[in-house]
Amino acid sequence: MALLASEPLGYLRLGLNIDHVATVRNARGSTYPDPTRAALLAQAAGADGITAHLREDRRHITDSDIDALMANIGLPLNFEMAATDEMQKIALRHTPHAVCIVPEKREELTTEGGLDLARDENRIADFIAPLREAGCRVSIFLASDQRQIESAARIGAPVVELHVGPYCDAHHEGDFAKSDVEFEKLKSMAQLAYELGLEVHAGHGITYDTVKPIAALPEIMELNIGHFLIGEAIFSGLDSAIRRMRGLMDEARREAIGVTVA
Ligand code: PXP
Repeated sequence: MALLASEPLGYLRLGLNIDHVATVRNARGSTYPDPTRAALLAQAAGADGITAHLREDRRHITDSDIDALMANIGLPLNFEMAATDEMQKIALRHTPHAVCIVPEKREELTTEGGLDLARDENRIADFIAPLREAGCRVSIFLASDQRQIESAARIGAPVVELHVGPYCDAHHEGDFAKSDVEFEKLKSMAQLAYELGLEVHAGHGITYDTVKPIAALPEIMELNIGHFLIGEAIFSGLDSAIRRMRGLMDEARREAIGVTVA
C-alpha cells in the first residue's frame, strides 16, 4: 500500500549543508560565494531544509552567516553545533528550527565520528534541556551503535542523526565487504532507534552512488547532505545537483516502500 507523505514512514526530507559554500568564500577572504544565496536557491530546487555548522574555529560558517540565514531564508535551519556553552548561548539567541549536537575537534577536517553520548549522558541531557524548552528540535549525531542510541532514548532526545560516513566511505573506496557490514549496522540501528520512538535522520558522505540504499530505509525521515552536492554544483550547478539528488531519493523511496510523494 502506498504511504502518504504525511505518514511517519513516508516522505524523506533533504537538508542541504551549505558549510562548503562558506569554505570557498573564506579561502579568499572575500564576500562571495554567499551561503545565504545558496540556501535560497536550494529552496527553489526542492530542498526541505538548510544545515549550517558554526564551528568553534569559524573555519567556514560565521556568526554573521547564521544571522543572515535566520533573517532571510524561508526553509527551516538546522544549526549544527558542539555541546559548548558558547554554542548553546548562540542557539538560544536565534532559536532555529533545529539543532544538531555533534562532536568537534579543532584538528579534524570534518566531523569524524558520532558523539560519545553514552559516556556523557548526564551532561548532554542537561545541555539539551534549555534548547528543547526554547522549542528547538534537538538531534544528536551518533554512530550506528546500540549503546549510543539507547542513551539518546534515555535522555529523551527526539531525533538521532546516524553517521553514514563509514558506509559511504567504504563504498567509495571499493571496499564492498566493509560497506555491506556498515550498511547492515545502519539498517538495524535505524530500526532500533525507530522502535525506541526516535525520529531517525542520516548524514555524512552521501553521494549519488550511496544515497539510494540509505533513502530506501523506511525509518529514515531526513538526509543531510553537503560536501558532495556543493562539489557537484561546480559541474552541473547547484539547482541541478539538488534536483538530481532529490530525484534519486524519491525513486528509492518509491521502489522500497511505495511512498507517494506529494
Ligand atoms: N550531518 C552532520 C551531522 C555533519 O556533521 C555533516 C558534515 O558537516 C553532514 C551531515 C554533511 O556531510 P557531508 O558534507 O559529507 O555531506
